[in-house]
Amino acid sequence: MTDYEKFLRMEKEGWREMDTASAYANGFAAAAEQCVPTMVKAVGAAEGTTALDLCCGHGIVAKGLSEAGAKVTGIDFAPAMLELARKRAPDVTFLEGDATALAYEDNSVDAVTMGFGILHIPDSKQALMEAKRVLRPGGKFAYSVWHGPEISAAFRIVFGFIQKHGDPSVVLPPAPAIHDYADKDFAFTALEKAGFSDPHLETVGSYWTLDDPGTPYDYFLEGTVRGAALLRSQPKTNQDAIRTAISDAVKLEFGPDGPWQIPIPAAIVSATS
Ligand SMILES: C[S@@+](CC[C@H](N)C(=O)[O-])C[C@H]1O[C@@H](n2cnc3c(N)ncnc32)[C@H](O)[C@@H]1O
Repeated sequence: MTDYEKFLRMEKEGWREMDTASAYANGFAAAAEQCVPTMVKAVGAAEGTTALDLCCGHGIVAKGLSEAGAKVTGIDFAPAMLELARKRAPDVTFLEGDATALAYEDNSVDAVTMGFGILHIPDSKQALMEAKRVLRPGGKFAYSVWHGPEISAAFRIVFGFIQKHGDPSVVLPPAPAIHDYADKDFAFTALEKAGFSDPHLETVGSYWTLDDPGTPYDYFLEGTVRGAALLRSQPKTNQDAIRTAISDAVKLEFGPDGPWQIPIPAAIVSATS
């Protein structure tokens, strides 16, 4: 874990910034919201289901579970996110906590969800074991994670041009890979090692609808932590070159006129406790 200590500190500090939390909620997360119905269905949320939504962020999955009739608690380590979540879903209980150390009894809930959280957790195996521990036998777990550049235009374009036009001296602290958990073999092996059975992976074709073709740059700069660290440390000329290249590539690939619809597909992975 020592390897990822700096990354973990960066994540904790980053998501605590209200500007970052709000920018994620108002921009990037438009695609995350499209994954909520699949997550809710994957855990079979219904009237009376008890559910924990880990890494709940601004509360979109928790709200979906609650609307399906579940009694939900949302957990996140970022107070700024919890503030947004409480406004979004006043019927849900939101608590500050860590997904790798849950203050819940063994076998105590029917469903656990984690929307776009696993990629932010250095000790992801511990998070999976905690989800397994608190779920009752037969309970359902589902998480979402972004697919990688091989099928995601958003990740291919943004990270492709960071690589092409970024200052090579800007490097991030060692961090867990962003897309590993979207790989079926990787995900199913990790889930089975944590004690889950019957794993499934479904792809949601989520996308952003944008009026400005450079917006993917802004979403990563303003509404993420890892992407922001990579972009904010760039000299201004590199930042400008990256944004211009992204904007040009979006127009070339998706047409000269907006609004532009940019695919950012996600994997929804679920399993049974
Ligand atoms: C990208 S946001 C996802 C928000 C929301 N679940 C969604 O589906 O859009 C990731 C969230 O995970 C939270 N987070 C990261 N690591 C965490 C941990 N170990 N325990 C609790 N929350 C964590 C961050 O604070 C942030 O709110």
